[in-house]
Amino acid sequence: MTANQTILMCEPGHFSVDYVINPWMENQTGMVDRARASRQWERLRTILSDFIKLAFVPSQPGVPDMVFTANAGLVHTGKVIVSRFASQHRRAEEPLIRAWFEENGYAIADWPQHVAFEGAGDALFDRKLPILWFGHGFRSDAAAAGAIERAISCRTVALRLVDPRFYHLDTCLCPLEGGWLLYYPGAFDQESLDKICALVTARKRIEVDEADALQFACNAVNLGKAVILNHASEKLIAHLRREGFDPMLTPLCEFLKSGGAAKCLTLKLSE
Ligand code: ARG
Repeated sequence: MTANQTILMCEPGHFSVDYVINPWMENQTGMVDRARASRQWERLRTILSDFIKLAFVPSQPGVPDMVFTANAGLVHTGKVIVSRFASQHRRAEEPLIRAWFEENGYAIADWPQHVAFEGAGDALFDRKLPILWFGHGFRSDAAAAGAIERAISCRTVALRLVDPRFYHLDTCLCPLEGGWLLYYPGAFDQESLDKICALVTARKRIEVDEADALQFACNAVNLGKAVILNHASEKLIAHLRREGFDPMLTPLCEFLKSGGAAKCLTLKLSE
């Protein structure tokens, strides 16, 4: 067990693809096999429960993407920034998320409601440096970087996303324990790649190729040495093992139809 850590999940009872707000959802409306999604989610939950405490926000009809709790908000030392979704489709999640955090004793940070911010989907704490990697370009507004700094007093490093298939930062970048960084370079503009290279040495940058990125290899949950993810090539598995990590594959293909995988289905409550 990872001491004092909790992850928030939302069971997929009402998960489906009902609208299209990213390229993965195209032609997937009504195509989710919910029984299979439930089995995949249960398996993920079982794996995670070996490492960490879990908490659950109830699923609700009419908010089929609520299962992706990474987008609920960003938590930092007992305070939460509740997400302000870019898409109208997901805004109905906001009051439900807020109510859960209020009931569970979190302080709610003030947030400028005209600034879109999709929570831990676009904001990832580095596991070594005192920085928050922040992604913008598709969902969260660039202006969210400054608003986050004001709300939770942390230093953000803003990265611009340029490939619509990797519309949230957690689809193409994953900080790992010890200062390693798993990422898909093709998802970023040059200035952002320069920022990454300036902050993380070459040895600690684990570059993922397009084929692995398309299997959501960067959308991984890192708990200690464990790296839990939908899929990874032999090459990537070997690379992770070489650096001392323990990759654990668990299929989440039903969630890929909506543009999400392991990391998207979790939110760390104790950053
Ligand atoms: N269908 C959801 C959306 O487009 C998927 C969200 C995936 N979440 C994530 N953190 N990448 O908003």
